[in-house]
Amino acid sequence: MRDFTRKDFLNLFLGGGALGLVASTVYPVLRYLLPPEQVEAEPDALKVGAVKDFAVGTSKIVKFGPKPIIVIRDVKGNFHALTATCTHLDCIVQYSKDADLVWCACHGGKYDLSGKNISGPPPRPLTQLDVRVAGGDVTVVKTA
Ligand code: FES
Repeated sequence: MRDFTRKDFLNLFLGGGALGLVASTVYPVLRYLLPPEQVEAEPDALKVGAVKDFAVGTSKIVKFGPKPIIVIRDVKGNFHALTATCTHLDCIVQYSKDADLVWCACHGGKYDLSGKNISGPPPRPLTQLDVRVAGGDVTVVKTA
């Protein structure tokens, strides 16, 4: 067995130092290029406006935490709230007053006002949210 010489010690010491230098340079660069995911708080409820702000047969896209939702006042005056991201390829859906349903312009997917996918490529329904109307205000509430 060979003795551990002073040259071996210096090679080990300098090799470790070089490795530390590379790691201390590469790590901050990687952290800059791959920043941590920002976690946006997801509220349980959101006031989306006053009843008078929603004409019959209109809709509004608003952010509910990190996700867009669509708030609809249908042709009968009833309120609905659904997630606004199409379950096919993530386009933002819109309300069609003429057909009184939700549709996606990207590939023609259609949903009823409860969020159920009724035609086209969307594989799953949109998530339905509760809408509460009180004191002239419209509030969307996350369902349990
Ligand atoms: S993304 Fe909506 S139907 Fe394709």
